[in-house]
Amino acid sequence: MRKITKICCIGAGYVGGPTMSVIAKQCPDIQVTVVDINEVRIAQWNDSNLDNLPIYEPGLAEIVGATRGKNLFFSTEVDKAIDEAQMIFISVNTPTKTYGKGKGQAADLKFIELCARNIARVAKDNKIVVEKSTLPVRTASAIKSILENTGNGVDFEILSNPEFLAEGTAIEDLLNADRVLIGGDETPSGKEAKNILSAIYEKWIPKDRILQTNVWSSELSKLVANAFLAQRVSSINSISALCEKTDANIAEVSRAIGYDSRIGSKFLNSSVGFGGSCFQKDILNLVYIARSYGLQEVADYWEQVIIMNDYQKKRFANTIVSSLYNTVSGKKIIFYGWAFKKDTNDTRESAAIYVADALLDERAEITVYDPKVTEEQIYADLDYLNTRSPEDNRRLLKVTNDPTLATQDAHAIAILTEWDEFKTYDWSLIYENMLKPAFIFDGRRLLNKGELTQIGFKYYKIGES
Ligand code: NAD
Ligand code: UDX
Repeated sequence: MRKITKICCIGAGYVGGPTMSVIAKQCPDIQVTVVDINEVRIAQWNDSNLDNLPIYEPGLAEIVGATRGKNLFFSTEVDKAIDEAQMIFISVNTPTKTYGKGKGQAADLKFIELCARNIARVAKDNKIVVEKSTLPVRTASAIKSILENTGNGVDFEILSNPEFLAEGTAIEDLLNADRVLIGGDETPSGKEAKNILSAIYEKWIPKDRILQTNVWSSELSKLVANAFLAQRVSSINSISALCEKTDANIAEVSRAIGYDSRIGSKFLNSSVGFGGSCFQKDILNLVYIARSYGLQEVADYWEQVIIMNDYQKKRFANTIVSSLYNTVSGKKIIFYGWAFKKDTNDTRESAAIYVADALLDERAEITVYDPKVTEEQIYADLDYLNTRSPEDNRRLLKVTNDPTLATQDAHAIAILTEWDEFKTYDWSLIYENMLKPAFIFDGRRLLNKGELTQIGFKYYKIGES
């Protein structure tokens, strides 16, 4: 079996960066080069101050610190890295299309195609090309076709190796993966390529957790895993609405059903709605694929997961408005959290963006505090929606780095991300700062209702009457 000594990864993002850092840590005999066309991002990965890495993930800076410059390299020299590597991971973004056929649903594969063409142009010897990005079923055959038709007569083996890490726990997930999935051709050379990739993971993942499938099962499994996870969140969120109308409590319901070993207790936390770069994108992609094969009922079934998620975000915003006597115009509302979940600086599809947008439409004045998200990112997220002018966004929404001071004369606090530090705040002092009645809208079920109502707050927790 061929031994891999040089890996290249195209795309130094939330997946490429952490995944390759962990491979470099676990395989000191392999030289890993992560390349990107984004010069700023690569400069951040190479910053001598590890606090300035482009991605915040617990444990990541330590690994980068220990491997960078030894067997982990970040570079903008894409062609050179492709040329030198025996194995090339493609880990570029695959966002939802914003134009043309499939707009709003299908995955935009232009970055993938550019990578394939780049590899075809540069490669002078045989390579294993690994799809790390999440791709629609049968993308591998498109990549293969590009490589075969424009290549320099070299052999390419295409593998699908989707990534299952969750942000905020990426390093832990990579080091202790539930499973690693490797899809590839059933031909002798396809099987060999799967074994070569498997041997890399076997350095730290037990072999029985490394699954080999055909390439399409692998591509589809990734979309399906995210669809099932998101479906659990939408399912419990739909019940949270019912709990609020009755005297049922969503935490008690989650616990009661989660004890059934067939259901299981994970991913049953009701929230303001799921966010992140994957769930919505991948379900839309699944819906698009089902529809394109004429499977209307299948498409409608999965689309409902997203419809329910949008409903949950709107419902939260509506609850704030109706509780504040049906008007938030000119009222100061503090947002605790902007990231789509704790322990990440990623804000893609974060519920906070949509709740803020709905409240700004009602002319609320919002102040945001998030421990890891930059002011620049918060405004970029709002501007991207194009709901109002950038000037209006900056006039109506402010960003603070002092979460307590910001509550002076506020009408309400909305908790949008479950950052642990929010639990440790001096809530009595915050209460003193605020106008009365002082409201808290807890979209993450983070705080203790008894303690806060004791202080004097009017406290709403998602999923409780
Ligand atoms: P990202 O946007 O953080 O990173 C992608 C990077 O690819 C960017 O830095 C971009 O500049 C670079 N890039 C794009 N085209 C390029 C090209 N032609 N040459 C070189 N670099 C190029 O995206 P991400 O979150 O890392 O996601 C990457 C893929 O992994 C997506 O398909 C996503 O669905 C999938 N995925 C993401 C997660 C997650 O938690 N973010 C988890 C599992 C799978
Ligand atoms: C997800 C998948 O978990 C991961 O396997 C895949 O590789 C990428 O997509 P990620 O989006 O990073 O990972 O985070 P995840 O922990 O799945 O959370 C997604 C969203 O769902 C977050 O907004 C989170 O707050 C929300 N969520 C999750 C809930 O509201 N309730 C839950 O019980 C779990």
